[in-house]
Amino acid sequence: MYKRNRRLRQNSAIRDIVRETVLNPQDFIYPIFVVEGENIKKEIDSMPNNYHYSLDRLDEIIKEIVELKIRGVLLFGIPSYKDEEGSSAFDNNGIVQKAVRKIKEIAPSLLVITDVCMCQYTSHGHCGIVKNQYVDNDLTLRYLSKIALSHAKAGCDMVAPSDMMDGRVGFIRETLDSNGYVNTGIMAYSAKYASSFYGPFRQAANSAPSFGDRKTYQMDIGNIREAMREIEYDINEGADIVMVKPALPYLDVIRWTRDRFDVPIAAYQVSGEYAMIKAASKMGYIDEKSIVLEALTSIKRAGADIIITYYALDALRWLNY
Ligand code: PBG
Ligand code: ZN
Repeated sequence: MYKRNRRLRQNSAIRDIVRETVLNPQDFIYPIFVVEGENIKKEIDSMPNNYHYSLDRLDEIIKEIVELKIRGVLLFGIPSYKDEEGSSAFDNNGIVQKAVRKIKEIAPSLLVITDVCMCQYTSHGHCGIVKNQYVDNDLTLRYLSKIALSHAKAGCDMVAPSDMMDGRVGFIRETLDSNGYVNTGIMAYSAKYASSFYGPFRQAANSAPSFGDRKTYQMDIGNIREAMREIEYDINEGADIVMVKPALPYLDVIRWTRDRFDVPIAAYQVSGEYAMIKAASKMGYIDEKSIVLEALTSIKRAGADIIITYYALDALRWLNY
């Protein structure tokens, strides 16, 4: 007599009731790019069906997000000017600060999480302050905490430092606390790899480094034990949520994190993961809908509690939520 696993695969009703991993609206965070200007909704070349929004056009996308019951957005700003110190990043009237206030007006209960980094704002495109061709860690911390504080003042729910400097989570936590923002959370890009999968984003955000690369601060792609140290440090410094990025090529990192730590884990399905699926489906090589749902389910199955994805809206429409 065989033991029969196929008994539970006979029809979709049976498969539905025994399915271990199911995607829900509350799993997703949707990234949004905001730009200065008026009446702008401009499609991003490298990321089809993603747009640069000016503030006056945000309401349409925010309404869709809320209707689909997505709980949070991750904001990226494209500033009107860049300089050596990325000063447009901590301007209280900067693009992200204004967008936070605007979104909170449109949808007060939608979580607004802000990417905290310098690369969109610096003339050299690095994620920190450059001294002698090297990103100066400790000097950069002061700037990052200023950026985070200005986002908190604008009313964001969480800040998400994506720079990969040592000690940034503790420094930001300390700055937020001493200014009274004890309830502003930190979602740390903890295990952020020096990945080529960010290519389309850098085009979208105009944030590619003008010299060198990000390998002196982002993680080496071959390392997983080091990722556990990054995550451990960030938790000890006060991270509320830790992140693994990219997602699909790093499912092992997500799983190790799930097995070792008890904090919520976010995984970021990044621009390159998105663009590859888009391009291949456009060519007719793969079926976009089923590939996307498979990739997202895999990320959740690996142990992610939260998935940051450019496919959030499509996925929920396809799932019929
Ligand atoms: C900024 C930042 C990047 C991404 C998120 N925040 C780019 C980078 O580190 O170069 C990548 C997001 C994506 O590729 O979708 N530091
Ligand atoms: Zn950066």
